[in-house]
Amino acid sequence: MMMQKPTLATTLFAVLLLIPSSLALKEGQTCVADKNCDSGLHCETCVANGNVRPRCTRVQPINPTSKIKGLPFNRYSWLTTHNSFAILGKKSMTGSVILSPTNQQDTITSQLNNGVRGLMLDMYDFQNDIWLCHSFGGQCYNYTAFQPAINVLKEIQVFLDANPSEIVTIFIEDYVTSPKGLTKVFDAAGLRKYWFPVSRMPKNGGNWPTVDDMVKKNQRLVVFTSKSSKEASEGIAYEWRYLVENQYGNGGMKAGSCPNRAESPSMNTKSRSLVLVNFFRDLPDVTKSCKDNSAPLLSMVNTCYEAADKRWPNFIAVDFYKRSDGGGAPDAIDVANGHLVCGCENLASCKANMTFGVCQLPEAEATPPLAAAARNTSFGIRNCKPVYLLWSLATTVFGALLVAF
Ligand SMILES: *[C@@H]1O[C@H](CO)[C@@H](O)[C@H](O)[C@H]1NC(C)=O
Ligand SMILES: *[C@@H]1O[C@H](CO)[C@@H](O)[C@H](O)[C@H]1NC(C)=O
Ligand SMILES: *[C@@H]1O[C@H](CO)[C@@H](O)[C@H](O)[C@H]1NC(C)=O
Repeated sequence: MMMQKPTLATTLFAVLLLIPSSLALKEGQTCVADKNCDSGLHCETCVANGNVRPRCTRVQPINPTSKIKGLPFNRYSWLTTHNSFAILGKKSMTGSVILSPTNQQDTITSQLNNGVRGLMLDMYDFQNDIWLCHSFGGQCYNYTAFQPAINVLKEIQVFLDANPSEIVTIFIEDYVTSPKGLTKVFDAAGLRKYWFPVSRMPKNGGNWPTVDDMVKKNQRLVVFTSKSSKEASEGIAYEWRYLVENQYGNGGMKAGSCPNRAESPSMNTKSRSLVLVNFFRDLPDVTKSCKDNSAPLLSMVNTCYEAADKRWPNFIAVDFYKRSDGGGAPDAIDVANGHLVCGCENLASCKANMTFGVCQLPEAEATPPLAAAARNTSFGIRNCKPVYLLWSLATTVFGALLVAF
């Protein structure tokens, strides 16, 4: 009897651990931990909009090239993280505590593995190197400096090496004034071999090369700078020569309006082939971000589609991209990709070789909760069933074991 007690405890532990992980819950279903949820999902609440029931929410968009290959680069939409490097809870590599706000929860490698393909990086001259930093008056300080840019650029290089058909775009908020500072750090990170040349970027609103072509030529790193002079001096594309972008921060979060940011041509400027939608607060807020990244984000994507003369965004940039009450930023990307790639409401409806705009509903098995549950803020009894089942099963097993021992 005494000898068997650990066995009882171990068995119960195993039962409680194994049952949930085998459930592979879908989006919107009630969960206890991340491992209860299907791949590409994690378990969270969104208290900011009243969703206190932990549910499986999406952290990964569908890879659009897995659905339909071979379209021009500007016919896809890519999940983009704002201040990708400003990670919650990280200390400065100077050893100092970081006093500036943080915008994301996981490393660049983890972001890339979750399908993030656009990275917004603020680069400064600092300590005889280039650092990812925030500023007061264009200056980097120990308590606003995250880490040397080369570390993160090397993470990108490792990802591009390991994923030979993926394309990554970097948006540099550029404060670097040292001569060829950016060139040196990209070269040192081993990223030169992936460089997509400015000469191949369409100048008058034409299509970009196809993603297949970019992959075949291994030109899989697209880099934009906010400094116009660097296009001539270092061959780094000046962002707003190729892209329109809405206002960032609180000014870009007013429902129903999508003004361009000051540096960008107006949203409807068709000589720019790419469209970027920003949707994040002046001050990043991890608790409110789940609400922002849900219905308000989808709504802004639609508003900006109209403002951009009926063009869906190629990049959607958010804070805390993993946070939402269901589909979140990954769903917004799937919606944009549905329209861009196959002319449907969601990428889930796109099929290989289909005729553009001839849409079928997604298969019931694969995606029932996508559209409905993503926006469903009520406590759907239907959605609770798996956990009731789990608990009744667990209690039954527990009871049976108690009797047995
Ligand atoms: C900033 O950090 C560096 C170490 O990276 C240290 O040598 C320097 O003294 C620090 N500066 C200040 C003002 O604390
Ligand atoms: C789509 O078309 C290509 C070329 O015509 C063909 O090789 C491929 O098998 C088709 N795929 C499907 C899923 O029908
Ligand atoms: C939300 O869930 C409830 C309960 O399952 C259901 O009655 C309602 O129609 C759903 N709402 C939406 C928008 O799907």
